[in-house]
Amino acid sequence: MQTRTQFFTTPIYYVNAKPHLGHAYTTIAADVATRFKQMDAHDTHFLTGTDEHGDKIVQAAQKENLRPNVYVDKISRLFQDLWPRLCIRNDQFIRTTDPAHIQVVTNLLTRIHDKGDIYFSSYEGQYCFGCERFYQDRELVDGKCPDHGVAPSLIKESNYFFKMGQYQDWLIDHIKTHPGFIHPGQYETELLSFLKEPLEDLCISRPKSRLTWGITLPFDDNFVTYVWFDALVNYISALGYPDGPLFQKFWPGARHFVAKDIIKPHGIYWPIMLKAADIDIFDGLNVHGFWNVSGSKMSKSVGNVTDPVAVTDTYGVDAFRYFLMREMVFGLDANFTEDVLVSRINADLANDLGNLFSRVLSMHGKYFKGIVPQMDFDRHPDLSLESDAQKAIHTFHKAMAGYEFHKALAGVWQFISRMNKYVDENEPWNLAKEASTRPMLAAVICNLLEGLRTVACLIHPVMPGTSRKMLAALGMAIPDKGFYLLAQIHSWGQIQPGTRVDKPGILFPRIDVPPKAVSQDKTAPEKKASAEYTPELKPHITIGDFDRIDLRTGTILSAQKIAGSDKLLTLQVDLGADTRQVVAGIGKYYTPKDLVGKQVVVVANLAEATLMGVTSQGMVLAAGTKKELVLAGFDAPVLPGTAVK
Ligand code: MSP
Repeated sequence: MQTRTQFFTTPIYYVNAKPHLGHAYTTIAADVATRFKQMDAHDTHFLTGTDEHGDKIVQAAQKENLRPNVYVDKISRLFQDLWPRLCIRNDQFIRTTDPAHIQVVTNLLTRIHDKGDIYFSSYEGQYCFGCERFYQDRELVDGKCPDHGVAPSLIKESNYFFKMGQYQDWLIDHIKTHPGFIHPGQYETELLSFLKEPLEDLCISRPKSRLTWGITLPFDDNFVTYVWFDALVNYISALGYPDGPLFQKFWPGARHFVAKDIIKPHGIYWPIMLKAADIDIFDGLNVHGFWNVSGSKMSKSVGNVTDPVAVTDTYGVDAFRYFLMREMVFGLDANFTEDVLVSRINADLANDLGNLFSRVLSMHGKYFKGIVPQMDFDRHPDLSLESDAQKAIHTFHKAMAGYEFHKALAGVWQFISRMNKYVDENEPWNLAKEASTRPMLAAVICNLLEGLRTVACLIHPVMPGTSRKMLAALGMAIPDKGFYLLAQIHSWGQIQPGTRVDKPGILFPRIDVPPKAVSQDKTAPEKKASAEYTPELKPHITIGDFDRIDLRTGTILSAQKIAGSDKLLTLQVDLGADTRQVVAGIGKYYTPKDLVGKQVVVVANLAEATLMGVTSQGMVLAAGTKKELVLAGFDAPVLPGTAVK
């Protein structure tokens, strides 16, 4: 049988800042997917790396008074050193300053230029130095760059352009005829709607008069290559395009993990670049949403940039990986807070999984002295857990194959809670009292051990350390590769009678007081619209937790737009005892005029935060999605400052 192959990549990260939660998520997701494919008998290749050319990097190097080459070495090292700490097993780490990469970019440019798809032209346009790109007027917000909030500079220069426009119809057709090319579907819709507008040609050069830190164009050494045209090529240069054996083996079926911020370069520039160079198009993109931290976009000024090293040092790498994969619905945004992380660790890991494991192994130790009893599984079919285990394996397989990590884990945890109920229903402690019920006791315990073995095998992609620990405790040999193939997990009765099963230490200790490892010192009031309601999420706050939040009625006295933002408004709110200034992200849904006199609900004891330079002393509550947002209010007038309970 021919081995199936799978190539996964992450974006290559800019080296203008150290790695954060967002980078960790994509790389862990790609690692989990890779480990799953290995369990599903694929030969895999997993690539990540760093994107090291361009203006952004030069500016960051200047800030640290370092030459760009010294600076990029330093930051790239931080990424390279982080991945093993997060149990990420990438096969390769590419840097765009690698000579082999530069060579492939040069070849590709020559090829596309020779074909006649690159032309030289003079261009005048609005250029944002932060984004390193020209902007169309219609893309600007109040005349400013939507990302950086600064007015772009009018630049006139001659440059090289890539004729992307001529491939627009081909690309639309490719997307429509290749279901799953952009996964999940909402991003395919987004891309197709973007492609309804005519596609501009892409400026692919920067004159050396203003940027030298890049790859020189092979056909004009007065210019360097635009950073995206350089960076995207990493996916094939790493494989040794055109003749390398890795390229032959792994390029067919390549899938790129990216977040929604970079679907345009990946969903438009990249397939068109490949098409122009007569290279096969990759299989598809796996696009995920963004992690916000405590309800706000991660940003230095908000002070909520979350360091994955601090989180893993405090809570452990497996707990961190589990949380990220369980909490985010792949494709939608999610919110990271340390409290929710701790709740998940306590509820799912310490309580559901950890307690079950320790309960079963304790009973096995007590009733069978830790030696697996002789057991004929067919004798007590009514006590079997086998079909529940098969169901969990099936759900897991299907969800993982569709990159629905949260569903895969929810399926495993459903099986764990089934096992917890099974213990309660069968009351092994009563079965242990009489000699006549000893065979049933053996059946119950052996079924539970087999169930735990199944769980240990299934959690490998997400929690490799815990999987190994559980398998070792269950007396199972750990295969050389560190995991069991999916096909090997099914059969029931694999833990041999006579095996010594030792009770290990606690898998996940309960966390009573959150240690607060994560820098989220300021909770920003710009509450993001929630992307989803997760009904499976276990309730995790008590009435005491709720009482800590001081909710008050407030009357809006005035409202004003914040310059440079289309979302944020500054509100002056009468809270009875005082007037508060509150920044609210409701500017797209309410005009300042509509707001004056409205009664709203204010979180009155929120730590002060600064947003776009404006101080905010609270938060107003609203409900809705990105498309629509409605302020919470009252159906009859109330005095400002009244407590909301
Ligand atoms: N260098 C380009 C990518 C070139 S790929 C050919 C780049 N780099 S980046 O450092 O800005 O990384 C962007 C990626 O980091 C996102 O697409 C995503 O994978 C990850 N994330 C950064 N912030 C994130 C969140 N807040 N949440 C989730 N992932 C995010 O763009």
